[in-house]
Amino acid sequence: MKKYKLFVILCVSLPMLAYAQAPSFKKQGTATQLWVDGNPMLMLGGELHNSSTSSIEYMEPIWPMMKKMNYNTVLAVVSWETIEPEEGVFDFSLLDAMLDGARKQGLKLVLLWFGSWKNGGSIYMPSWVKRNYERFPRAKDYDGVSIEILSTLSEENMKADARAFAALMGYIKKVDSDHHTVVMVQVENEMGILNTPRDYCDAANTAYNGPVPGLLTDYLKKHKNNLAPELTKVWAENGYKISGTWEEVFGESHVNTKDWHDMSYFTEEIFMAYHYARYVGYVAAEGKKAYDIPMYVNAWLKGPDYPWTGRHPGGGPLPNVMDLWKCAAPSIDMLSPDIYVPNFTEIVNWYNRQGNPMFIPETRGGTIGACRLLWCIGEHNLMGFSPFGVDGRRTAGQTPQPPQADQLALTYELLQGMSGIILTNQGTGKMRGLFVDQDNDTQSFTLGDYVITADLSSRGAPVPAGGPVGTAPAQTNAEVAGGGLVIWLGAEEYLVAGYNLNVRFLPVNPGKLPLVAIDKVYEGTFKDGIWQQGRLLNGDETHCSTFSGTGLKMPRLSIQKILLYRYK
Ligand code: DGJ
Repeated sequence: MKKYKLFVILCVSLPMLAYAQAPSFKKQGTATQLWVDGNPMLMLGGELHNSSTSSIEYMEPIWPMMKKMNYNTVLAVVSWETIEPEEGVFDFSLLDAMLDGARKQGLKLVLLWFGSWKNGGSIYMPSWVKRNYERFPRAKDYDGVSIEILSTLSEENMKADARAFAALMGYIKKVDSDHHTVVMVQVENEMGILNTPRDYCDAANTAYNGPVPGLLTDYLKKHKNNLAPELTKVWAENGYKISGTWEEVFGESHVNTKDWHDMSYFTEEIFMAYHYARYVGYVAAEGKKAYDIPMYVNAWLKGPDYPWTGRHPGGGPLPNVMDLWKCAAPSIDMLSPDIYVPNFTEIVNWYNRQGNPMFIPETRGGTIGACRLLWCIGEHNLMGFSPFGVDGRRTAGQTPQPPQADQLALTYELLQGMSGIILTNQGTGKMRGLFVDQDNDTQSFTLGDYVITADLSSRGAPVPAGGPVGTAPAQTNAEVAGGGLVIWLGAEEYLVAGYNLNVRFLPVNPGKLPLVAIDKVYEGTFKDGIWQQGRLLNGDETHCSTFSGTGLKMPRLSIQKILLYRYK
């Protein structure tokens, strides 16, 4: 009887415990997953324009539109200027409207805290901060002139931001800890110094010419063999010193105007990264004391137009300074890239280091976005994806028009059904991603007992998305791409979700049965995680000939299950 009672109590209370638990990160093999209400979640997100959530009326029609476009998560701004118009006086009415709108559509929210910095600049702080430049000092450029960027070296700046952020997190706990509508928070936005390689205010000059803090030298000693290679390089070149000024420990920076990949002004960048991380880490930690849910930071990337610190917001969370963020901001759970540059795969590979979970908070959507998304899920255990500006542009008084549906909306629809099987396979080594384009038009890897090769199905105008939500917007030939993910179901069975691809299979070891052919190919979908078998594909709808090999044809977005067999 006692055992029976215990069983009943566990059955009732365990699911409730899972429900009561705040959103958190959990490891599964090599993957880090976002857990909400006792389950892992794949965020199929979209970020709203910066000003969309600053008016209750304006934001109202957005939520049903997002639902219609198959988003399950919306990334939206909560700004310091709107929540604390007077010092210590808080107003969360915009947040209430966001929660209400999202909940009515069953959407989750990732809140973007626009506090001290947004795209490097300090433009979202309340007027009482903006105008009081003596109490809230700005950074200074090389010539000692103030810039519209709050200095990271000021404790007053940091503490004022942290107080507001803690009040926000406390409020979210109060109104949302039973709902978990808010699943994650971005702390600040694309922070970093601009127009100058580092802050040159008096406090910054003193710090730069003073000793590297013990927190950092201890970290360097402890992680000597696992530091980012860019950091190891400069530290090693300067003799692995564990004391001295920033230039004694990391060297005097060089400048290479010919190659943006080179680490120009790197010591200044390391210095700024430490100070941004320390500040943002403090803000996040104060927020977590009030309500502990996952928090991340996003980066404006280095690139040909933004080759070094000051050209891109320097000290922001780029992988070359990941150690500085890990050292000085342990309350930050992940560093995430905003990817608008063409070298998307290079950037994702760069961020996939030191166990950093993969989340893309800003990027492009459309067909190219859909291909990249599928690749990222398969190859990098992606936690979530979010194109920017998904609510479209309109002015007050205009009737909102649903943005044109595209390949991404169709892909999100497909992925919603199959997120269960994706999440089960994350981090297990049974899933891979595919991405091919005009420059790299074929890709091969081994998964299970087969070498899988993908190439572009079409190099010309993309096949229209079709389907119920519209057609694909125009795409230039330079952007023609194919993308997919492959899950090995065991033995000779594979599941592939893909677009604009040919996917062929060859045995790794020919062995006694060297030849391979198709037993069956089915297309289908997933509904609530359950496979819904559709057409049996054969003939023209597969690659099953001596000429084209063995495998799948995926000119349009589809999910296909293939069962192979061997013969001689
Ligand atoms: C990156 C920023 O993080 C966003 O807030 C927005 O300004 C976009 N750029 C605009 O492209």
